Amino acid sequence: MEDQAEKLREIMRQKKDGAAPAGAGTALAKSKEGKRARIITITSGKGGVGKSNVSVNMALAYARLGKKVVVMDADLGLANVNVMLNMIPKWNLYHVIRKQKTMKEILVETEYGISIVAGASGFSKIANLSEEERQNFIDELDTLSNADIIIIDTAAGVSDNVLDFVAAADDVVIITTPEPTAITDAYGIIKIIATEIDSLNMGLKLVVNRVHSVAEAKKVADRMTNIAGQFLNLKVDYLGFIYDDPMVSQAVLRQRPFMVADPKCKASLCVQHIVGRLEKSDVKERGGFSGMMKRIFGGGE
Ligand SMILES: Nc1ncnc2c1ncn2[C@@H]1O[C@H](COP(=O)(O)OP(=O)(O)OP(=O)(O)O)[C@@H](O)[C@H]1O
Ligand SMILES: [Mg+2]
Repeated sequence: MEDQAEKLREIMRQKKDGAAPAGAGTALAKSKEGKRARIITITSGKGGVGKSNVSVNMALAYARLGKKVVVMDADLGLANVNVMLNMIPKWNLYHVIRKQKTMKEILVETEYGISIVAGASGFSKIANLSEEERQNFIDELDTLSNADIIIIDTAAGVSDNVLDFVAAADDVVIITTPEPTAITDAYGIIKIIATEIDSLNMGLKLVVNRVHSVAEAKKVADRMTNIAGQFLNLKVDYLGFIYDDPMVSQAVLRQRPFMVADPKCKASLCVQHIVGRLEKSDVKERGGFSGMMKRIFGGGE
């Protein structure tokens, strides 16, 4: 039986050999034996577009659906998921990479029913790690497999580590805002994903953050999905939008996620809608025939 770590190792091997790895999401889904966490990687081209807020609040929306969720702060330079949650974990990914701790040991429960793996501040990039350190990291990722959902919040921009997390994902959620610079950079990262990874079978999804109207969001999404289809022959699904909402920055300032501070605010409702859509795509894309049989006849869950 192929486990999650083995699949990731394979992806790394292929990356190293220069061959395009198979869309990880599909491969992982195919090797699905028993329970396996769904890995959702949140990324963007431009920084500061809302990745960490989307990661944490999506996790909370999933937790409300009864899912066991882990948020991994994969930013090794400027970790801030723990700051958003007002936590100062003693250990972080740095200690895992350095083999001082296991991933399980650094996993911390929050008061909100989700767990986090804290990022490392001051570590430059996973790209600078030795092969052995990378392998160790990948092996450790596998120990989180008793979660239902692993949300990986990446650092802004393109680095090898971001691409590794993209390659490992079942779903890649690209965040942009309506700003032309953010859109251009989002297109840039989609293009890199298209060339670096065989992403045809990966769930590539778009979220437009900080919009003022549904129409504004749709305009941005249409433009992006059309360009990706036309020039990259890549299907990018428009997953949804999040309103520009003063509750978001207030929540950041108070170090309390907006989904907790105000579950009915505009941003919270949008995030819940997005998670609802992801859940639907889960059943459609990954459940397949056996998933349908399970739903009809029960068992497995
Ligand atoms: N929907 C929103 N409405 C209002 N403000 C928002 C919204 N989303 C994000 N912001 C603002 O943008 C800031 C940056 O968000 P966040 O830290 O989530 O971005 P990021 O993409 O993770 O940044 P980085 O690239 O530095 O990791 C927030 O602190 C908040 O002030
Ligand atoms: Mg961030």
